[in-house]
Amino acid sequence: MTINRYPPINPRFPHMLHGGDYNPDQWPEAVWHEDMRLMKLAHCNTMTVAIFAWTKLEPAEGQFEFGWLDRVMDLLAENGGYAVLATPSGARPAWLAAKYPEVLRVRPDRGRNLFGVRHNHCFTSPIYRAKTALIDGKLAERYADHPALLAWHLSNEYSGECHCDLCRAAFREWGRRKYGALDALNQAWWTAFWSHTITDWAQIEPPSPIGETSVHGLNLDWKRFVADQTTDFMRAEIAALRRFTPDTPITTNMMGTFPGLNYWRMAPHLDVISWDSYPRWHSGDDIAMASDVAFVHDINRCLKGGKPFMLMESVPSATNWMPSAKVKRPAMHVLSSLQAVAHGSDTVQYFQWRKSRGSAEKFHGAVVDHVGHENTRVFGEVADLGRKLERLDPVVGTTVRPDVAIIYDWENNWALTDAQGPRRGEKGYLDDCKRHYRAFWKRGIPVDVIDMEQDFTSYKLLVAPMFYMVRPGVAERIAAFVQAGGTFVATFLSGIVDENDLCFLGGWPAPAALREALGVWAEEIDALYEHDTNAVAPAADNELGLTGEYVARDFCDLIHAETATVLATYKGDFYAGRPALTVNTLGKGRAYYIASRNDDRFLDDLYGGLDRRLGLLHSFDGALPAGVSAQLRSDGERRFVFLMNFNPTPVTIELRKTPATDLLTGKIVHGLMELPGYGVMVLEQ
Ligand code: GLA
Ligand code: ZN
Repeated sequence: MTINRYPPINPRFPHMLHGGDYNPDQWPEAVWHEDMRLMKLAHCNTMTVAIFAWTKLEPAEGQFEFGWLDRVMDLLAENGGYAVLATPSGARPAWLAAKYPEVLRVRPDRGRNLFGVRHNHCFTSPIYRAKTALIDGKLAERYADHPALLAWHLSNEYSGECHCDLCRAAFREWGRRKYGALDALNQAWWTAFWSHTITDWAQIEPPSPIGETSVHGLNLDWKRFVADQTTDFMRAEIAALRRFTPDTPITTNMMGTFPGLNYWRMAPHLDVISWDSYPRWHSGDDIAMASDVAFVHDINRCLKGGKPFMLMESVPSATNWMPSAKVKRPAMHVLSSLQAVAHGSDTVQYFQWRKSRGSAEKFHGAVVDHVGHENTRVFGEVADLGRKLERLDPVVGTTVRPDVAIIYDWENNWALTDAQGPRRGEKGYLDDCKRHYRAFWKRGIPVDVIDMEQDFTSYKLLVAPMFYMVRPGVAERIAAFVQAGGTFVATFLSGIVDENDLCFLGGWPAPAALREALGVWAEEIDALYEHDTNAVAPAADNELGLTGEYVARDFCDLIHAETATVLATYKGDFYAGRPALTVNTLGKGRAYYIASRNDDRFLDDLYGGLDRRLGLLHSFDGALPAGVSAQLRSDGERRFVFLMNFNPTPVTIELRKTPATDLLTGKIVHGLMELPGYGVMVLEQ
């Protein structure tokens, strides 16, 4: 397995980035000098500047004031720091909204918002686009050669939709481009249902609580349109920057599994992926939380094929918008930050550097608290992390090439969530993907998390929980993957609708290539009430070593094994004795079908069995105590194993391949070693 090292985010600074959102526009200049002193003490090297500074940059239409930002950029450079410079489109000036009301967003109920908050603009408005391109271009032109400029941060957490006349017209145009003729659109949207046939393009309206909500093809296409239109807006911002800074990397801060966009559609246009991570540490099960966050880090690494990403925002202490702003317990900050690095981040950045004095985020955690000096617990932990990051130069640009991929697909999520049946509303798709993921995480088996459009050929094991929507060509690629020796795992509720959310006819899981690969026909789906359970009993001497009984909840597919072999059966109800787990051989590979939503022990046993059969890549050669995660980064020659203890208490781990060096301390370790509560090691073996 060859892995090459990716170049640093910006080759001008081949180190881990450490810093945070910095809003000097909220503070007098004297404070900036103090910020520079503190920045060095905190071992921070990068500030994300001017995210919401539009009015400060353009206080009146066409009147630009860059002097203050010049001084901030110069100060950063003089102090050895760098800027991730933002475009200000995430929040607009009051004068802009007052003069051009079309820039303000229209809600699904068709009322136009007043000026206020942020993310309150129309992505279609030609005026908003022109004003954004103008200021973006001016920023790029001015700072193109500035020594502090390291990367661009587009806007802030792109999100939301607009139902104004312009957006609705753009949606109709989008539909016309996609379908060409109304017949095709009506077929895809199944509009004969309730007599909703569209006879003129002008009749097309976005889904709205005061109008249409029942046409699933329309709902799906509207989500696609919103994602495309936002991406198009983003591309317009990119174009404005590239004119002057063709080589400066561009990112935008994403929000994990945020359902309002499709990040796979945005990723190709960006140079580097970044995301904002706000887990609820200490709110219950930190070990499950750690695995869930790891899942999202892995999505971000995969969005550009394994290229290191940026942890653009995280909090050094407490997140004010959570139900309780619980502070991170000592050592959790270093642990949770290095967890991002373990999964492929080349940065640790915060919201925010200096805690704001007023308004909605005045109690949000920050590196510099209202007290104003460096003698705080939080500042100390940030500085400690900064020193550790400085020791991780050899990790910069490395990645991992897992044997396992889990498909988490945005459009599949949209369609599943919209489906009125077999359960209403939320079906637990994301949760299930995370539960499958956790079985690998516990074992220290690295995983890629991808959507169904990605190339599967490099994996040994491909897992597709609740693979409800199957878009054109995907079933055939899965069948080819299995034919060639791959192992595929699918579950209940798979192969049910096509890319338009129209049910496949002729028997599920469809289309034919998927059914042949799995060798089953799912005749009915039984959705259980909350209090219902069934049980799954493995066959004696089954190839995976499954034992005992497993609990099934929520969904039970009633399947027929066509060419597949039955590995487990249902115990209860009228379908007792019918297949609950099957395996089918196709070419050199095998495909498993899990017919019901089973307990975690089932997933642990199943993937334990598959790990033994397939010899999957592990990050760490040895046993991992519960709550300890191992994650690998490598350039193909040097291997860096991150060992992370999410228990508050110490654990003992045995190193089989010894000795190794802990990069964080420079110490040689061997044999039995103790990892403290919330402790981390980065071993080079
Ligand atoms: C988001 C935003 C930031 C800030 C933080 C607070 O991630 O991007 O501007 O509001 O939330 O947690
Ligand atoms: Zn609009």
